Amino acid sequence: MKAVILAGGSGTRLYPVTIATNKHFLPIYNKPMIYYPLSLVMLLGIKDVLFIINPEDLENFKKLFKDGSHLGMNIDYKIQEKPNGLAEGLILAEDFIGNDNICYMLGDNIFFGHDIVKIMKEAKEEIEKNGGAYVFGYYVKDPERFGIVEFDEKGNVLSLEEKPKNPKSNYAVVGMYFYDNKAVQIAKNIKPSDRGELEITSVNEEYLRQNKLKVKLLGRGFAWFDAGTHDSFLEAGEFIETIENKTGLMVGCIEEIAYRNGWISKEELLKLAEPLKKTGYGQYLVGLANE
Ligand code: G1P
Repeated sequence: MKAVILAGGSGTRLYPVTIATNKHFLPIYNKPMIYYPLSLVMLLGIKDVLFIINPEDLENFKKLFKDGSHLGMNIDYKIQEKPNGLAEGLILAEDFIGNDNICYMLGDNIFFGHDIVKIMKEAKEEIEKNGGAYVFGYYVKDPERFGIVEFDEKGNVLSLEEKPKNPKSNYAVVGMYFYDNKAVQIAKNIKPSDRGELEITSVNEEYLRQNKLKVKLLGRGFAWFDAGTHDSFLEAGEFIETIENKTGLMVGCIEEIAYRNGWISKEELLKLAEPLKKTGYGQYLVGLANE
């Protein structure tokens, strides 16, 4: 399985903050937002990652992640010329994906929960075994903002809808999707929505139509933030600060994960810590190396 992380978009919902910079570089507490989804795919054991980005951000993304080899990974970039929608990312990633299955992540979605990696692994295994699509639902108070999934009493999925004016449920489909290889072809065949975008919800609807969509609800014990608005952005940062300071452990620390995965050595970890040594982040990495 390969991972594709969508990190383009216009970020207009965070204006004026994102007029001069891409939202994925902004800090959620002590690290760029984009570290969080990347850290999850690393925890899944995925080394091949493609970022879908805006043309003007390539240089800065390369500053952050280079080719990934310093983390023991293969990181590549694909330009999305215009924000034509999330499903376009699948089409742009076609060559990178090849014959593989896909873990598709939105760069501004932040997940936290004790079992998050366990449930991601379940989704990965399900796709690898049986194909189809596997997505997650999360209870929200403002369903108009999201892709929404409707269930019957037995928990079967009845419908999916992108940003409905009259939502049929309070369950948002979060920005972490597992697909078999057919997703690329499906994305190529969908039509733009009223807002002129190729919606990821349309891809999921096609899997639903084929009876190949699994939806798992993330219940108590999970926190999910779509850090795409001022309030949710701040909320996510405060949440991470609280968790990290209470536990003494970092969330989304990509160097730590690379080290614990055995992808980099102690010496390599210390080398990565060196330029960060004035910060708690860098000192944390040194602490890890000395454990
Ligand atoms: C996108 C998807 C939506 C999903 C949401 C999760 O919305 O279109 O289905 O629920 O991400 O963050 P957007 O962020 O593009 O408004």
